[in-house]
Amino acid sequence: MNFDLKDKTALVTGGSRGIGLEIARSLLNEGAKVILCSRKEQGLDTAAAILENPKNLTTIPVHIGKADDVDALFATIEEKFTHLDILINNVGMNLITPGIADLDPGLWQKIIDTNLSGTFLVSRKAALMMRTQGYGKIVSLSSIAGRKATPGMGIYGIAKAGIEMMTKVLAAELALFNVQVNALAPAMVKTEFSKDFWSNKELLDHVTSTIPMGRIAEIDDIVKPVLFLASDGSSYITGQTLVVDGGATAI
Ligand SMILES: NC(=O)c1ccc[n+]([C@@H]2O[C@H](COP(=O)([O-])OP(=O)(O)OC[C@H]3O[C@@H](n4cnc5c(N)ncnc54)[C@H](OP(=O)(O)O)[C@@H]3O)[C@@H](O)[C@H]2O)c1
Repeated sequence: MNFDLKDKTALVTGGSRGIGLEIARSLLNEGAKVILCSRKEQGLDTAAAILENPKNLTTIPVHIGKADDVDALFATIEEKFTHLDILINNVGMNLITPGIADLDPGLWQKIIDTNLSGTFLVSRKAALMMRTQGYGKIVSLSSIAGRKATPGMGIYGIAKAGIEMMTKVLAAELALFNVQVNALAPAMVKTEFSKDFWSNKELLDHVTSTIPMGRIAEIDDIVKPVLFLASDGSSYITGQTLVVDGGATAI
């Protein structure tokens, strides 16, 4: 599929493995210049070694929940690239948590800091650049856990619901500046992130039984819709969350 992203500059957060890594690969294959960030330098080095077109790739270690890290990231982007066309807010982390009544506030803060505040810190800086340049695409990874209470994943779900509302708010604020802001909500995708679930046959059978298409998503099922939302094919779509779940929430 051709999304024609030649010479676009794209930032992918959390791109050292999983969905983010494959989004980066596809962006590079479509001709974009890609900035990839995640916390661990070693993961970024491994990603750089396996991606094609490394000359169009820049890797920067960043913790998106830390404002100083995010400021330094954008200072580098402004200096080296002068503009940013595409932001893929891909970072997400989940820890199995007790219910709200039994939850330690520190654990709440940790999950909200990375998933929601981190997405805010990065989106804010990208929005400033995109508003000035009069062009931009922001695509954030949500989850169906942000739409349906999921036992053990409640705080993650609250953070993802916040990302979906942030998507609407930013879309409204940036609409007249030719910046489109959308999100994508997958159900289970076969990555390290969800391995404890899909590697357990009993759990996998249960999850699969709730999906009309009869299988969980492969990474590629997510990457193509993300690229569509990052491309000019979606230029009249903004403030939306595309649910990519094999029909799970349709029934
Ligand atoms: N897999 C699923 O079943 C599923 C389902 C629905 C939605 N999603 C969403 O899809 C997105 C990608 O998921 P995935 O399965 O590809 O996850 P993953 O395999 O766990 O990869 C997460 C990436 O984020 C980086 N990261 C984590 N915390 C970070 C932080 N604070 N700052 C910067 N980078 C950070 C990780 O690298 P470091 O550890 O080096 O930082 C890694 O590159 C997430 O938003 C997730 O919530 C996933």
